[in-house]
Amino acid sequence: MQEQLRALKEKAEQELQACQKVEDVQEFRVRYLGKKGELTQILRGMGQLSPEERPVVGQLANEVRDSLEGKIAQLLETLKVKELEQRLLSESIDITLPGTAAEIGRQHPLSMVIEEIEEIFMGMGFTIEEGPEIELDYYNFEALNIPKDHPARDMQDSFYLTPEVLLRTHTSPVQARTMEKTKPHVPVKIIVPGKVYRRDDDATHSPMFHQVEGLMIDKNIRFSDLKGVLLNFARQMFGADQKIRLRPSFFPFTEPSAEVDISCVMCKGVGCRTCSQTGWLEILGAGMVHPRVLEMGGYNPEEVTGFAFGMGVERVAMLKYGIDDMRLLFENDVRFLRQF
Ligand code: DAH
Repeated sequence: MQEQLRALKEKAEQELQACQKVEDVQEFRVRYLGKKGELTQILRGMGQLSPEERPVVGQLANEVRDSLEGKIAQLLETLKVKELEQRLLSESIDITLPGTAAEIGRQHPLSMVIEEIEEIFMGMGFTIEEGPEIELDYYNFEALNIPKDHPARDMQDSFYLTPEVLLRTHTSPVQARTMEKTKPHVPVKIIVPGKVYRRDDDATHSPMFHQVEGLMIDKNIRFSDLKGVLLNFARQMFGADQKIRLRPSFFPFTEPSAEVDISCVMCKGVGCRTCSQTGWLEILGAGMVHPRVLEMGGYNPEEVTGFAFGMGVERVAMLKYGIDDMRLLFENDVRFLRQF
């Protein structure tokens, strides 16, 4: 029996050496050391041994088992590492291949211009306010000194939802809303970017467009403050050599009122097609806040004064980037948008 065991050990060790895969080793283990394995088969014959022989054979059997178990464990370890290495090798990725580029979006030119306008006015101490696009007739017109039958309403052909509710035609209602909210405190120093709506649609008008409103109220605000703020804005937006020109105009909510021009960005004031040979481009309306508007907003026009202005963002963008058709700004053609 001892012979048998030694022979088994030798045979097993040779076979084990030939195992190439984890699977083979596991199968080998069952075959030799399992419940019905070859070692167990040999040990079945233990009963026929003499009492003196038994412990000797038992010890030898244990040695054979332990030695095989040890070799199996070692081999399993090596094979597992080898198999893992092979797997990693076969699954490796070629990092020298060019990647699939992710499509990256970019800011719309109108958003860029709005942000730039905001930055400039924040630099002068203005804060940003917003208001609803669906607006009450009261804030859009009445509180701005535009009563029901006022002809100025014709200038702002409007989308009405009910007789008292409309899509705001300008950002000026946020003047009234802010005064109502802030009264009687000064200073009020805000700009209001946002969408506005009118019944217009051609190369220079869109039914939806953007404005930035400005309002400043404090003690002793004068027309010269308005001019200073606007000149500063024009220079930061369009260049340090910018000039501005104020022409008398009319708005129901300001008195006096002005239309504000900047020197033509194309010809620098010489005269060209863009500025119709005048050298000037109109960019905004402005004026001193009408005493009645201050009053309706809860301020005493004897104590405080203010200025206001409103500009069209599309127009500023078109002038800044030399865009000749406003509709390009809304068609979302990426070939156009990529240029900014
Ligand atoms: N709300 C005017 C418009 O849409 C623009 C405007 C003019 C706003 C004069 C003002 C202002 O605040 O003072 O045509």
